[in-house]
Amino acid sequence: MRVLVTGGAGYIGSVVTEQLIGDGHEVVVYDDLSKGHRDAVVAGAELVNAGLADAATLNQTLRERQIEAVIHMAASSLVGESVEQPNKYYKNNVVAGLVLLDAMLECDVKRFVFSSTAAVYGEPEAQPIQESASTTPTNPYGETKLSFEHALKWYDRAYGLRYASLRYFNAAGATENCGEDHDPETHIIPITLQAAAGKRSHVEIYGEDYPTPDGTCIRDYIHVIDLARAHIQALEALSEGSRIYNLGCGGAGYSVREVIDTAQRVTGKEIPTRFGPRRAGDPAILVASSDRIKSELGWRPQFQDLGLIIESAWRWMQTHPNGYSQ
Ligand code: UFG
Repeated sequence: MRVLVTGGAGYIGSVVTEQLIGDGHEVVVYDDLSKGHRDAVVAGAELVNAGLADAATLNQTLRERQIEAVIHMAASSLVGESVEQPNKYYKNNVVAGLVLLDAMLECDVKRFVFSSTAAVYGEPEAQPIQESASTTPTNPYGETKLSFEHALKWYDRAYGLRYASLRYFNAAGATENCGEDHDPETHIIPITLQAAAGKRSHVEIYGEDYPTPDGTCIRDYIHVIDLARAHIQALEALSEGSRIYNLGCGGAGYSVREVIDTAQRVTGKEIPTRFGPRRAGDPAILVASSDRIKSELGWRPQFQDLGLIIESAWRWMQTHPNGYSQ
């Protein structure tokens, strides 16, 4: 299949591109490189360096490359920033996304896989979270992703646009060539590994009084390869209809303390920690039920063990000590 991957120069987008190419698909990466990295564009993929609001370039790309499906991962994705700058999130995650959908309709491309997020659920009422749980986002990031999911539902009904919306929990880990390189870095695993590598003095643990066994927040970490494989399975199943899936490993999840302890074991380094205040908007526990994608598509995570996930991220950090900017 000829697939357009928006945000394909980003962390998850690069791994999705790598897996698609490995499976024999043709990939055009569409990315303005505002967050992504030119060096993260996987060999064998073509890069179109342009923004989503640029309807003319989008139309031209879809038409000339005879694109058959779109995986849409380009977005703004920082919870804290979204609270301070909701206009940026509505513009990038809703308005620009609609430009993309309209370009697709104009070019008769009707297969779409969307990066959504656990943030659509807000403060969950029960764990593990099922797709049928109520969606009451507590920040503009989750709200704009949910708004776009709603648009997809109506575009499907009116125009026959088939979509899969994948609600990611905590993506983590790396492949040999593709890893996590954000600026600023806000995610717990790369921050912890930077501390292990001596690039930070310590890890600040945001809150020690959550209602969890060790008082720190629990999350559901999913290896980026398992996440990427789900995109491909969802894409292949689109002819059977649109769908929404959670993507996590399930189980009990891991606390921030467990993440740091596991990283100490994997790296063999002492990782200093300090307790700080809670971060605004962090729910105590976010663990997915991924039963729906397991039963409908037969998807199975291959790297459920947190040690394996952290080990892969650590390996990438050793081979890319300065991230993508060598
Ligand atoms: N944390 C720390 N110290 C840090 C960084 C993070 O204690 O320096 C804690 C956070 O408070 C949280 C946990 O580590 O409890 C995980 O934080 P991350 O920032 O790594 O990930 P989040 O769970 O906040 O974010 C993820 C996705 C978002 C998505 C969100 C849904 O990255 O895109 O889940 O709530 F919006």
